Amino acid sequence: MRIAVYPGSFDPVTRGHFDIIERASRLFDRLVVVVLVNPDKRPVFSAEERVLFIERITAGIENVEVDSFDGLLADYFKEKGATAVVKGLRAMSDFEYEFQMALINKQINPEMETLFLNTSGEYMYLSSSIVRQLASFGGDVSSFIPAEIRDEIVERLRKAGE
Ligand code: COA
Repeated sequence: MRIAVYPGSFDPVTRGHFDIIERASRLFDRLVVVVLVNPDKRPVFSAEERVLFIERITAGIENVEVDSFDGLLADYFKEKGATAVVKGLRAMSDFEYEFQMALINKQINPEMETLFLNTSGEYMYLSSSIVRQLASFGGDVSSFIPAEIRDEIVERLRKAGE
């Protein structure tokens, strides 16, 4: 069984992430979306909330599982018996950081392959922090957040911005 792991902060998950989830789920037998800790970021949503949001938007995709992990991606990868890590690449600006991460992870575990999927054109400049900022000022994020979770996320972000 070919298992891929799609890691991220997902604070919150966006349509751009969902696009990657949908496309990657077709390439592997199983896709595990995992909420990890990026020590450089202070999340707005708890890991549990982020997992629940992702679970709700992926309920219709049979081979997707959602999890959270408080440790190294390389350790999680091993624990899951995964074949590859999937990451979405947006503009060229993502490249250096992602390349560094992929190389470090490969150094830790030589079997860890990272597969980059290009982000679909319409999500090229989308990011979770743009969504957070826009919503906290009452901006319209409806085209960036999946419909199933949009109202809840907007409400929470609006309150966080007060
Ligand atoms: N569509 C829209 N936005 C996207 C996207 C897509 N397809 N892909 C990425 N993004 C956005 C994210 O929303 C995020 O936006 P933000 O910075 O505004 O929050 C940004 O691009 C960066 O995303 P990503 O590369 O997924 O970084 P991340 O911070 O979400 O996740 C971890 C990084 C959690 C995977 C990484 O820190 C990690 O592996 N942590 C565990 C510890 C570890 O193993 N470290 C490595 C060895 S030292």
